[in-house]
Amino acid sequence: MPQIPSFAVVSGAQVHSALAGQEKSVIAAVEKAYRLHGAGETVNPDSYFLRFPDRPSSRIIALPASVSGDVGVHGIKWIASFPENVAAGFPRASAVLVLNDAETGYPFAVLESSIISAARTAASAALAAVALGEARGTRPRRLGFVGAGLIARYVHTYLAAAGFSFDEVGVQDLSAEHATAFAAHLRRAQPAEVTVHETAQALITGSDLVVFATVAGEPHVHDPAWFAHNPVVLHLSLRDLSPEVILSAWNVVDDVDHCLKAGTSPHLTEQRVGDRSFVAGTLDDVLAGRISPPADRPVVFSPFGLGVLDLVVAKHVYDEVAASGELGVVRDFFHDTDRYGRTLEERAAGGGTR
Ligand SMILES: NC(=O)c1ccc[n+]([C@@H]2O[C@H](COP(=O)([O-])OP(=O)(O)OC[C@H]3O[C@@H](n4cnc5c(N)ncnc54)[C@H](O)[C@@H]3O)[C@@H](O)[C@H]2O)c1
Repeated sequence: MPQIPSFAVVSGAQVHSALAGQEKSVIAAVEKAYRLHGAGETVNPDSYFLRFPDRPSSRIIALPASVSGDVGVHGIKWIASFPENVAAGFPRASAVLVLNDAETGYPFAVLESSIISAARTAASAALAAVALGEARGTRPRRLGFVGAGLIARYVHTYLAAAGFSFDEVGVQDLSAEHATAFAAHLRRAQPAEVTVHETAQALITGSDLVVFATVAGEPHVHDPAWFAHNPVVLHLSLRDLSPEVILSAWNVVDDVDHCLKAGTSPHLTEQRVGDRSFVAGTLDDVLAGRISPPADRPVVFSPFGLGVLDLVVAKHVYDEVAASGELGVVRDFFHDTDRYGRTLEERAAGGGTR
């Protein structure tokens, strides 16, 4: 007999404890999510964007999703992006994620999810860097970040956990303060030489692995010649590259229908050329060996960010916290659960409906 599950609240501190040092497990969970998605074992409708006419730089996005297989869970991430928060000294993104029981549909947990979101994004970037590098037979020695925020920091951590080490790490950001602070973090975290670049051109031409993690709303990198050395580009912020750059590259996405929407660079490119033939396929196609990136062209990975990744990582966190015995269950969260309004005593006695 199915039963109403208990309901728990999982704090950011608990999420952090469950994920810190577990980067390899998170990368494995994200790879599993991509493979389940590729195999049709997920439901991942379009993200829903709530935008504000009086505040165009901000948005809140709903990402509902469902994963079958042994994960077996439904849910939704509700993530706000308010870039002006950064100037006030706290992160741009804030989020919660609700997990729903696959059998009854009941929500059984709400988790702080900015950390889950950053972790799954960084894990997908690291997974792509490994898969694309292995398929091309190249190993980057010079890493570069365009955009020096929280996502850049997580990506650096996950690349290290995935086994990358670099001789040089470059940073470029519109804000000198952000670039300098991130460079200082990088110097504390690893031994490679760290350089702050004045321009995106200097950063890109000096890097074999380029990470875009800006909050640019429209393309600011237009010249394909900057990519003539054929780097791997992790285009996480999705709107940095002009259609000319996209068309000059071999493009891989997480999900074609998702990624060619919402004014992303691949979406602008589709609008320019009228078809999708510039997209070689998905990361799952690369992982399964169905497509292979060339070594003699730039390779651009543009992940729209699938809700199924958040779900799989959130379920992993929930299971870890539950196993530790620290689950913060909210007693009596579900109330009025008898169809006929009977008390517990009346139900136990098998009556009370007359
Ligand atoms: N694809 C995905 O799955 C996914 C998931 C999470 C976040 N993201 C994206 O990652 C990006 C970064 O997120 P964050 O939390 O690190 O943001 P953040 O605000 O902490 O940092 C962004 C940084 O980019 C800099 N910047 C803005 N425009 C720039 C430009 N044109 N050139 C260089 N630097 C520029 C800002 O000064 C800031 O330091 C966001 O666009 C976010 O939407 C993508």
